[in-house]
Amino acid sequence: NRRPRALSGIQPTAGSFHLGNYLGAIRQYVALQETHDAFYMVVDLHAITVPQDPKELRANTRLAAAQLLAAGLDPERCTLFIQSHVPEHAQLAWVVNCLTGFGEASRMTQFKDKSAKQGSAGTTVGLFTYPMLQIADIILYQANSVPVGEDQRQHVEITRDVAERFNARFGETFTIPDPYILKETGKIYDLQDPTIKMSKSASTPKGIINLLDEPKVSAKKIKSAVTDTDTEIRFDAEHKPGVSNLLSIYATLTETSIADLETKYAGKGYGALKTDLAEVVTEWVTPFRSRTQEYLDDPETLDSILAKGAEKARAVAAETLAAAYDKVGF
Ligand code: ADP
Ligand code: NA
Repeated sequence: NRRPRALSGIQPTAGSFHLGNYLGAIRQYVALQETHDAFYMVVDLHAITVPQDPKELRANTRLAAAQLLAAGLDPERCTLFIQSHVPEHAQLAWVVNCLTGFGEASRMTQFKDKSAKQGSAGTTVGLFTYPMLQIADIILYQANSVPVGEDQRQHVEITRDVAERFNARFGETFTIPDPYILKETGKIYDLQDPTIKMSKSASTPKGIINLLDEPKVSAKKIKSAVTDTDTEIRFDAEHKPGVSNLLSIYATLTETSIADLETKYAGKGYGALKTDLAEVVTEWVTPFRSRTQEYLDDPETLDSILAKGAEKARAVAAETLAAAYDKVGF
């Protein structure tokens, strides 16, 4: 009688995770450690769907793991590992590729966005089949719950479809996962353009809060965040997206309700809200930055955590892969 399983992966982006990654995904990874048998990985296989520099990829993968630990992942409470250390991901992905329709895969909106950015000459088949690898990532662990941001909902939906298809064709094998997306933080918006999501690829430097930046730099960005010509501090995602985004960030980081914040700032201006939020962000990132540096300064500890994580992950992944390969006829 085991706990429900949680699984999620995050790409080793260059430099730093941003506040959207933390509030939309990583914060839920930390919470689900307490209630779930949780598996989290840095998805370096996914990272090579666009051109990469080998040395940078290796460094960014470690930096990502260090940031996940600094954000609160506890290797005693969850399994943290690097995707490429567990070969079963790629091995199951082939089966998933052969169960996914070409038209079905062509409907993935993230592929449309990312391939448009790469241009047709730069778009690899790997970028196209990225969601199929992600399906394998999830079902290998029989995950019940997949903590992600709103932009990943479609990928969890196709995971459900393909897992159900496999089960129908070959017999009950895989758990059907649910996305775990919080309404308040499933989509954190760009500070300069609160109609698009904060993102490494689409945000301008002023629109994104990088967790490892100097707090002063982030404070300046928050103070110049785009709001509206009204003055009232009120949550209204449709008419006041900028202010609403700041309120969502503030409420989540301080574990306060939006209603309490609206009361607190009744009659006050946007300047007061921004100054206080800059302080809240500084308080969160300051220990995060030093903990990340501690892990980077102690490569042996980091390596040992990741090696143990890969071993624990492999035990589960190998069992699922063996069952799936057997069902397929291998
Ligand atoms: P990016 O979109 O910046 O490239 P990733 O694709 O690496 O970031 O996303 C890693 C995780 O963070 C995913 O679960 C994704 O859904 C989540 N995420 C990314 N951006 C945001 C955002 N602006 N708001 C909420 N969640 C986000
Ligand atoms: Na994303």
